[in-house]
Amino acid sequence: MSEAGGEWDGQLLADISPELAGRVIFLEECASTNDEARRLADLGAAHGTLVLAEKQTAGRGRRGQAWACPVGEGIACSLIIRPEAPTPLWSRIAIATGLGVAESLDLPVEVKWPNDLWLNGKKLCGILVESTGNAVVVGIGMNVNVKKFPEGLAHPATSILLETGTPASREVVLAGMIERVIYRTSQIEGEFGSLISSWNTRCALRGKLIRCLRDGKPITGMMEGLSLSGELLLRNTEGLQRILQADEIRLV
Ligand code: BTN
Repeated sequence: MSEAGGEWDGQLLADISPELAGRVIFLEECASTNDEARRLADLGAAHGTLVLAEKQTAGRGRRGQAWACPVGEGIACSLIIRPEAPTPLWSRIAIATGLGVAESLDLPVEVKWPNDLWLNGKKLCGILVESTGNAVVVGIGMNVNVKKFPEGLAHPATSILLETGTPASREVVLAGMIERVIYRTSQIEGEFGSLISSWNTRCALRGKLIRCLRDGKPITGMMEGLSLSGELLLRNTEGLQRILQADEIRLV
């Protein structure tokens, strides 16, 4: 069954993408798919292995936050990537993943640096990228058919169902997004410039006044997008500021 609140349909996934279905490790329940994927990566699991769980009991978000999703209504998965690119470029995987997931949906999904996905001003998907040994684990939490979100979330959240009024097949969404993420994350070395151009066209905050923390100090400026090497570009009275790492970005 692939409707809202349904169970994963392995046969449907195999019909859509036999290659992906052969690489999926499906768990009814686990603490966090990122933890499982890291464990498997440390044991030598291959590039492209996907850990998919119906229920996470301790799903993790960025900055130590929790991530939860009603059973049967979302996608919680972690993809093991063994990059060919050198380690200093691995930080680009977060940007590539956000873009890949956004592009896989036939919806006006925007990216928010470094890798939240927004739809109509609300958070649709969260991404948690972690590395272990010579692998990178890309955790994706996608609100596919979620009907109701808890009060008091840090950001307003939404789902494909809430925005379109129609339940989406989780198998179709999953297969499309993983295929695109694998493609985009393979571009972090030679084709990163074209990846950045595509990212900039989807940037939710481009042209907006934003504030973030750089080295613990607040900095404000007009967001100009990402540079060709992935730095956040802010223009303020002191000129163009290039920010490699920043804490939570906020609209001013
Ligand atoms: C965020 O927006 O803070 C990131 C959320 C990432 C959630 C996903 S769900 C699958 C994977 N397993 C986890 O424990 N977290 C990620």
